[in-house]
Amino acid sequence: MFPAIKFPRETILFYIFATIENLRMKRTKISTLLQADKVGQSINVKGWVRTRRGSKHVSFIALNDGSTINSIQVVAEAENFEEELFKQITTGACISVDGTLVESQGSGQKVEITAENIDVLGAADPDEYPLQPKKHSLEFLREKAHLRFRTNTFSAVFRVRHALAFAIHQFFNNKGFVYMHTPIITGADAEGAGEMFQVTSLDLDNPPKRKDGKVDETQDFFGKKTNLTVSGQLEAELGAMAFGEVYTFGPTFRAENSNTSRHLAEFWMIEPEVAFADLNDNMDLAEDFLKYCIQYVLDTCPEDLAFLDRRLTDEEKNLPKEQKSEMGLIERLKFVVENDFERLTYTEAINILRNSKPNKKKKFQYLIEGFGADLQSEHERYLVEKKFKKPVILTDYPKGIKAFYMRMNEDGETVRAMDILFPGIGEIVGGSQREERLDKLQTRMDEMDVCQEELWWYLETRKFGTCPHSGFGLGFERLIMFVTGMKNVRDVIAFPRTPQNASF
Ligand code: 4AD
Ligand code: MG
Repeated sequence: MFPAIKFPRETILFYIFATIENLRMKRTKISTLLQADKVGQSINVKGWVRTRRGSKHVSFIALNDGSTINSIQVVAEAENFEEELFKQITTGACISVDGTLVESQGSGQKVEITAENIDVLGAADPDEYPLQPKKHSLEFLREKAHLRFRTNTFSAVFRVRHALAFAIHQFFNNKGFVYMHTPIITGADAEGAGEMFQVTSLDLDNPPKRKDGKVDETQDFFGKKTNLTVSGQLEAELGAMAFGEVYTFGPTFRAENSNTSRHLAEFWMIEPEVAFADLNDNMDLAEDFLKYCIQYVLDTCPEDLAFLDRRLTDEEKNLPKEQKSEMGLIERLKFVVENDFERLTYTEAINILRNSKPNKKKKFQYLIEGFGADLQSEHERYLVEKKFKKPVILTDYPKGIKAFYMRMNEDGETVRAMDILFPGIGEIVGGSQREERLDKLQTRMDEMDVCQEELWWYLETRKFGTCPHSGFGLGFERLIMFVTGMKNVRDVIAFPRTPQNASF
């Protein structure tokens, strides 16, 4: 009836293997198993063992795959497995489990897996694996930064970090901003935002010298001295003068030798820049932006936040009352989303600080005498945590303590700057309306010793089609600290770079 078709042997073998491969179960993430109603189904999970406990007859394995803070319980009856297998199912080992998802007999979880087959993908020698199931200090875990994602705290922190990054792009994308990638290596060292790291390919033991004995930078890779960027702002301004609204989101480098819990040598910054916007528009944008990001995490990471909330309460348990947070983590996040930020000028803030109790009683390390003083974190925290008890936006700082590009006010003394201060963090955002008037900008550059020749391209935006514009920079890690309640910036970036530390 049908003509016999002869297939080559290779083709037949290929289809047999492909069918077997298809029959092998695909991995399901634990987050999916805990959400979808898959009770009764055969499933495969893969992940890392948090703990194994039980008896001679039955083992209970808490398995986590990083998709959620929750582990799933795998129940393995000893009689169904080789005894040798269990010796390898120790904390930190990576396993693949085939089994059936069933309603849990025990309390603490709705579903669990009855294991039918377990493969050890990677054992973790219990004598060597450092993250045994007990409480480890954050300091200890910093030294194990290559493994610390496998703890509840760090898995929650880094899922929240991801969610915040996503929210940031979503916020600006929804508003029609163009995402700009500004250079990481820069030839302009005039921003004045901080000390820079030099980038060079010269032989440091034997650099080429000029006649006057100084290093000949024309022989360096770029033919001039270059550094890692401290900010993408100046380039973002060029973009704003064409697209109207742009933002950057990238790594930023500062070689300040400040070993504090809020400073990194390498951190991530988000810098929107908006044409036709004044300082009030800038404050509105920054406030909306921060609230959007926080609300996004409240909406999308409830379990991670609930865990971090409990962690913070637990961490503060033994602190004296005055050092305890007045609100829980989630309560604090909701409070920030629901309330207007307090807006006041630098001059008003100085008056409040000068007349404050800690200033009069000489409790501040740096006493406030009057206009012109640079605010220290103790002053910022007083305003935010004691006086207003909410985020504060300070504006119109003295020109002497701010960058050359900020727009001069009528008084000739203050500039259209804004800093946003957050409880427990201090400064989280710094920004300003920019000086769009060429002559005024040049005057400030001369007064502040900023080289006009070097920034010729920046000055040209003021020469050709200038317009009022504003922008700001948000320190990404400081936002993550606020949202997660972590108190050290080293615990919200995967591999922190700080003075004397560039491990991993
Ligand atoms: O206030 P900064 O220095 O502002 C600028 O760089 C401007 N160019 C921004 C702009 O207007 N486009 O830095 C902005 C923010 C700070 O408010 C702080 O949150 C964060 O960046 N930041 C740091 N975060 C971690 N480690 C450091 N060393 C930081 N320095 C600043
Ligand atoms: Mg600043």
